[in-house]
Amino acid sequence: MKLRETPVKELTEKQAASELKVLATEIALHDAAYHRDDAPTITDAQYDALTKRNAAIEKRFPELIRADSPSKKVGAAAATGFKKVQHVVPMLSLGNAFSDEDVADFVESMRRFLKLPEDENIEVTAEPKIDGLSFSARYERGSLVVAATRGDGAEGEDITANIRVVKAIPDFLMGDVPKVIEIRGEVYMTKADFAALNASQEKKGGKVFANPRNAAAGSLRQLDSKITAERPLKAFTYGYGEVKGMEWETQWEFIQDLKRWGFPVNPRTKVCKTLDAMLKEYRKLGEDRAGLAYDIDGMVFKVNRIDLQKRLGFVSRAPRWAIAYKYSAERAETVVENIDIQVGRTGTLTPVARLKPVNVGGVVVANATLHNEDEIARKDIRIGDSVIIQRAGDVIPQVLESLPAKRPKDSKPYKFPSKCPACGSHAMREEGEVARRCTGGLMCPAQSVERLKHFVSRNAFDIEGFGEKNIEAFFTDGLIKSPADLFTLEKRGGRAKLATREGWAEKSIDNLFAAIERRREISLERVIYALGIRQVGQATARLLAQAYGSFAAWRKAMTAAHDKESEAWKELTNTDQIGESMADDLVEFFAEKHNREILDALAKELTIADFEQPDVSGSPIAGKTVVFTGTLEAMSRDEAKARAQSLGAKVAGSVSKKTDLVVAGPGAGSKLKDAEKFGVKVVTEQEYLKLIG
Ligand code: IVH
Repeated sequence: MKLRETPVKELTEKQAASELKVLATEIALHDAAYHRDDAPTITDAQYDALTKRNAAIEKRFPELIRADSPSKKVGAAAATGFKKVQHVVPMLSLGNAFSDEDVADFVESMRRFLKLPEDENIEVTAEPKIDGLSFSARYERGSLVVAATRGDGAEGEDITANIRVVKAIPDFLMGDVPKVIEIRGEVYMTKADFAALNASQEKKGGKVFANPRNAAAGSLRQLDSKITAERPLKAFTYGYGEVKGMEWETQWEFIQDLKRWGFPVNPRTKVCKTLDAMLKEYRKLGEDRAGLAYDIDGMVFKVNRIDLQKRLGFVSRAPRWAIAYKYSAERAETVVENIDIQVGRTGTLTPVARLKPVNVGGVVVANATLHNEDEIARKDIRIGDSVIIQRAGDVIPQVLESLPAKRPKDSKPYKFPSKCPACGSHAMREEGEVARRCTGGLMCPAQSVERLKHFVSRNAFDIEGFGEKNIEAFFTDGLIKSPADLFTLEKRGGRAKLATREGWAEKSIDNLFAAIERRREISLERVIYALGIRQVGQATARLLAQAYGSFAAWRKAMTAAHDKESEAWKELTNTDQIGESMADDLVEFFAEKHNREILDALAKELTIADFEQPDVSGSPIAGKTVVFTGTLEAMSRDEAKARAQSLGAKVAGSVSKKTDLVVAGPGAGSKLKDAEKFGVKVVTEQEYLKLIG
């Protein structure tokens, strides 16, 4: 009997291993024939038989599953959703500019950071900002090995099989290639292809898309890459992630290599030497925008010299060396049918206009934010008013102004409620604040639900397949009241309870609990962010995780900081970028017994990983606390701080006995005295630069 015909349960381990090896190669060849060459050599049924046999053998011998197993590619994805891919170099976003002034500020602040003289220009590339879906495709020795979506920037979804069927993206690179390179770009659909696709979808009774971007995203995020292959997807590339074995002096030179390797690059990419040239390029593109075959939402400027890019580095999640200058938003007129009040996770009441649905630049808008009480009053927006609304990219649409001439005669100014619409508690407005807040705190169901939504959101616990609707439903039914409940749901008989609900088949229940289980191990920064403490966004969460290292140390310090005479308070407020008001919010969160209980119950369910210091092996200042004082000459204060942080140091604002090093330039005053008092080592800027190499 041939090996292939031996029943799986009779295979020896050795036979199984050798058959898995053969299957991996064979299935990969069929994949290539099908996806890359559009020329399959076997029928779909024969192909399915091969993958089924592979799965059956792997089920019996899980320890034999190969790194290159076909089950790790399309098959597995089809069953359980996309596999996750960690980005070795994070995929970041861009800061936005909305006016010429913003662009001038961008250039100016780079000049300041780099300490360049005023007459020295910073050359940039100008690239159209494609409105599509970003991807990262990794090539090893010139072959595509894995491709991923951006996801939350740190971790995306494995869309390798789908990227392989996008014709514009090569599977193999031509010419001289680096050992490893991750190519980044945007997959998009032309306006004409989008219209044709929608027309044919409508005929078939299939999904109709709101705009080309959604159509591109929906087509790329298909579990079945055969569907992706049928969609008219195109791509432009513009950047890189991890690279081994090649370097460029400028972004422009890199772009020339992209073309050489066979990648599509936007033909309107230019180099600009001055601010004037940048603004001119932006306007020219703007004039041609409507006539382009594809949607763009702005122009991206990137510092051309890569050595300068490296010095400029990043601030939280965006590079200092690039910016997106957005084109002005699209506007439309419609009617405010009602004004609803939404209660946020910290109790803020936000008024939302419910609109007569209207198409704004390809997207139907039915809701728009009215920001707050003062904004409604200032613009005098009333129920029944005709208004102008504006939508810019992915930002929430806003109401710009009302048109009083069209106002119904009996209309009255809108009266902002003084009670929380969710729990009836008094809604209070503190002096100097624009927000009116519900005082119901933990008793207010709307706040609880919003906190839970934040808790499971993408940059927090990111529980797959568990969105806002589920949170609302589970909360209403009393299944989940606080974060820890998510992790005890299964123990508390959650399976049986879910099974009685509509839309929860066994498979989706399995998937949900598997997704929850996967998140029991989680990074400290995600936990801190997930708590939804006022003012503590992702950047601050990361800063705190870095400063305190472990969950236990952070929790202890935040509780101790309640006493404003304590070392803990001093340390917290002395951490760079953490001001008093933020520190107050942190301390207040921990002062609330109920919050501590929620946190401890949660921690019991989790394994919270200590902050992973960036690889700073060999850095002489890793883990040290550094203070800069006086005038620095070779670099700006901001660059000095940024560089020290990237070398694993903590930068503090004042000198204490915890300080390890003071870097003092001319004009240093009291901090120098403090250094003497505490016996802290003091070096000059030159000595410091030598130290860090
Ligand atoms: S550069 C660190 N260049 O815009 C550099 N992005 O708002 C980050 N995008 O996530 C990106 N065209 O999806 C860059 N020429 C271009 C782009 C571009 C479109 C998208 C991309 C990115 C988003 C940031």
